[in-house]
Amino acid sequence: MSWIKENTSNILQLCAMKIIKNGPIPRHVAFIMDGNRRYADKKRFNSLKGHTDGFNKLAHTLQWCLDLGIKEVTVYAFSIENFKRSHDEVNGLLKLAEEKFTNLLDERDKLMEHGIKICVIGNFTLIPDKLSKIMRQSTIITKDNKQALLNIAFAYTSRDEITQTIKSLSSLVNVNQICIKNIDEKLFSNNLYTYQSSNPDLLIRTSGEVRFSDFLLWQISDSYIHFTKSLWPEYTVWDFLKAIFFYQRYCDINNADTISTTKL
Ligand code: FPP
Ligand code: MG
Repeated sequence: MSWIKENTSNILQLCAMKIIKNGPIPRHVAFIMDGNRRYADKKRFNSLKGHTDGFNKLAHTLQWCLDLGIKEVTVYAFSIENFKRSHDEVNGLLKLAEEKFTNLLDERDKLMEHGIKICVIGNFTLIPDKLSKIMRQSTIITKDNKQALLNIAFAYTSRDEITQTIKSLSSLVNVNQICIKNIDEKLFSNNLYTYQSSNPDLLIRTSGEVRFSDFLLWQISDSYIHFTKSLWPEYTVWDFLKAIFFYQRYCDINNADTISTTKL
């Protein structure tokens, strides 16, 4: 199963995308893909089938993002908290990731054709060796691609990312490579796992949960947040376009505010 699903939009969807493209398009969209197990329960599937269908939805969503010209996408694929789930579910998710990252290496031509750079953000010390090796390979072969960036957050939490950043800056202070007085927001951001990314313009969370679950807490201080009730595997292009539409309306209101403030 491919990471990018081409030519799946119908005429109506293509028209809607064309209209949306007349407005501001976020440079960077982040997704909390939530609701896989509730979807599986509803359909009487096991949880792994819910996650597999969730992966397929991710592949569609990446194509919608490419179609709209979104340059950066960050997805929350596996939180450090997810290690606390049942042994079977954790193993199933790790196996699924291994399979999908192997597929990704197999379809490297497609990634090169679209110029997609893959970046895995997270604590690699928590990821099993075989999987972390395949992940590193995907980042190495795509490192020079410049058209789009896909960050996959795996074994990630924001608090862990911030803790690791504090540790790495402290060790630089210890060996006199930097002075404490040089530590500022810019240096801190440049030492986060997301150092290659801009901050998300739009964060979308599915499944009706209204919280951030320790995802990109440093990076989303100024992002527009969109929550939707759809469960991730049931997320549709219309849900996605609605989020972009709300983002555009927010940009319009904000610009209007800026103009009126400037006038005052
Ligand atoms: C949240 O739904 C989803 C996850 C914990 C896993 C997300 C993973 C994928 C969509 C597959 C992506 C895989 C790769 C290799 C990138 P949940 O399990 O919390 O569902 P619930 O909220 O209904 O319990
Ligand atoms: Mg959940």
